Amino acid sequence: MTKLLIIDDERAILEVLDIFLTSEGYEVITAENGKEGLEIFEKEGGGINLVITDIKMPEIEGLEVLRRIKAIDKDTEVIVVTGHGDMDSAIESLKYGASDFINKPVRFEALLLALERAKQKIAMSSQLKDYTKNLEQKIEERTLELRQAQEELMESERLATIGETVAGLAHYIKNILTGLRGGMYMVDVGMAKGKARMQQDGWGMVRRNIEKVSDLVLDLLKYSKERLPEPTVCSPNKIVLEGVELMREKAGQHGVKLSTDLDPNLKEALLDQDGINDVLLNLISNAIDACLYDIDTSKVWEVKVKTRLESDAGSGEVILFQVIDNGAGMTDEVKAKLFTRFFSTKAGRGTGLGLLITQKIVNEQGGEVSVESEVGQGTTFSVRFNRYMQKS
Ligand SMILES: Nc1ncnc2c1ncn2[C@@H]1O[C@H](COP(=O)(O)OP(=O)(O)O)[C@@H](O)[C@H]1O
Ligand SMILES: [Mg+2]
Repeated sequence: MTKLLIIDDERAILEVLDIFLTSEGYEVITAENGKEGLEIFEKEGGGINLVITDIKMPEIEGLEVLRRIKAIDKDTEVIVVTGHGDMDSAIESLKYGASDFINKPVRFEALLLALERAKQKIAMSSQLKDYTKNLEQKIEERTLELRQAQEELMESERLATIGETVAGLAHYIKNILTGLRGGMYMVDVGMAKGKARMQQDGWGMVRRNIEKVSDLVLDLLKYSKERLPEPTVCSPNKIVLEGVELMREKAGQHGVKLSTDLDPNLKEALLDQDGINDVLLNLISNAIDACLYDIDTSKVWEVKVKTRLESDAGSGEVILFQVIDNGAGMTDEVKAKLFTRFFSTKAGRGTGLGLLITQKIVNEQGGEVSVESEVGQGTTFSVRFNRYMQKS
């Protein structure tokens, strides 16, 4: 049953409306003035959502009653009863949010119609509220589901990464073991048959493969260790010269000319020397390999390490290290996989971790690595750091 509050200062009208609307199935509460009406409304605490109020009343006027009711609960539907032809009040009441107005003397059909419309409005707005609430709940549920799915995905990606790492390692170690076994077999046979040459070759294989294990272990350590860069004031050109010195033997062995082109203006910088050293050794070693793998033997192979002091867009100073080779170069396919774990085209002779470590070290110092390469022409790796490392 719909609760209905009727406020009118004329007792006769109240009584007639009470009898009529009760017979129409409403639970009617009456009040003889605005003050009493408001008190009842508040006391019911949301129990009443349909009000009929007269406009012209002493003390608190109908419009004021309407305003206060709307202030307490804007969803309450209020029908105002205006004096005949009192259009101003009617319009005013609509402005305050009255759902309807009817004229005096009150005609029952008009009143029933107005009540019917108000009830429909109430039903619709409560439906709307339900929808909104349902929607919010649905969104919450879906958000939760999505978050769970995302977490599961991340976990499975993590497992996949570990899986890939282990598979890559196992493959690499298997190759080394094959090499070791082969070497040992040759040593055994060489000894049994008294063939010194075979023993020597076998021993060489064993040594090379032990070397590989130690390279792998070192690379893995560098790759997995979370290392904070330790910046010191140093000379970038000096780091290059030291690195080049370390690689000179390898270059010489393969007939690769190793040279430098250093910027004399680049006196000092705040950099992590050990990190840069590792980066340069990786890049130079790859560059020499690229010459080694080059099929064009008419070339004079050369690896050049270059430094430059550049200024960036924000007028900060940037240090550029470049390792340039005129070796085999690389295809787009290789270029796309450069920084992938265990990616190597060197058939078991490389760990496929060098560039990954390089990238990690450079990023740790807020720097950037880029590469340009052309098959048959050669490759240039560029590494840029902010001169005073504030970038990271
Ligand atoms: N300077 C270069 N010229 C041509 N290819 C290169 C060069 N540097 C790297 N690459 C390619 O990138 C691959 C990955 O390099 P890296 O991560 O250092 O692993 P690795 O040297 O152990 O193979 C190399 O196997 C090679 O194919
Ligand atoms: Mg390498």
